[in-house]
Amino acid sequence: MILSVEGLHVAYGRAPVLHDVSLEVPPGEFLCILGRNGVGKTTLLNAVMGVLQPSAGRVLLDGDDVTAQAPHARVAAGMAYVPQGRDGFPQLTVAENLDVVVEASRHRDRGVVAEVLDLFPRLVPLLRRRAGNLSGGQKQQLAMARAMVTRPRLLVLDEPTEGIQPSIIDEIEDALANLRQVGSLSFVLVEQYVEFALRLADTYAVMDAGRVVDAGLSSALQTDDASRLLAV
Ligand SMILES: Nc1ncnc2c1ncn2[C@@H]1O[C@H](COP(=O)(O)OP(=O)(O)O)[C@@H](O)[C@H]1O
Ligand SMILES: [Mg+2]
Repeated sequence: MILSVEGLHVAYGRAPVLHDVSLEVPPGEFLCILGRNGVGKTTLLNAVMGVLQPSAGRVLLDGDDVTAQAPHARVAAGMAYVPQGRDGFPQLTVAENLDVVVEASRHRDRGVVAEVLDLFPRLVPLLRRRAGNLSGGQKQQLAMARAMVTRPRLLVLDEPTEGIQPSIIDEIEDALANLRQVGSLSFVLVEQYVEFALRLADTYAVMDAGRVVDAGLSSALQTDDASRLLAV
């Protein structure tokens, strides 16, 4: 498995939020995590990335236990995170936003920027634009590109369609579908837009109140069933 989450418990102070969450992502596969607001999806991704420490359980990357590792060490090991809110450095240009990640990365290979821009051609005419002046959809593409210049094995995304106009969501989907063509990349996507997530993903997990309450193959989950599972 490229990612294994085993029996994860996470609390904020004394308030438990995740209860015994387990998930697996085989190499090259795409897992989507569905669930209503407040069920613990972002908390789970933060624990996977090392932003939050679990009170119990383990996170393994390609069989290596990374539970004790800081976020930067997990990024160096091949995990990349596109967090909810997607900001980057608003005062820097698009090109500078990509360069600072290359500078900070272990490989420091500037050739990676050209490779990543091939995957996000819509960013090419925007390279000299300040990131803060981009549209929501463009910012999201930049956030995904920033994650990709670290040359990850696992890309973790938190609600990339949140706050994006419906007409632009297709561009995000195209970009993710393009990334699927990159060999040896695996995905964990948190989404509330069920149809979008199920079109991209091989497998799904539904969370409710800090637990995984359903999981399986995306092809077997009808949108109707998903909507029922996500109903308040
Ligand atoms: N920093 C925090 N401190 C305390 N409680 C938090 C914090 N972040 C989130 N929570 C609570 O944890 C629960 C799960 O939140 P979150 O993981 O953001 O859910 P989701 O991403 O599914 O909307 C919610 O009840 C939320 O209020
Ligand atoms: Mg969230």
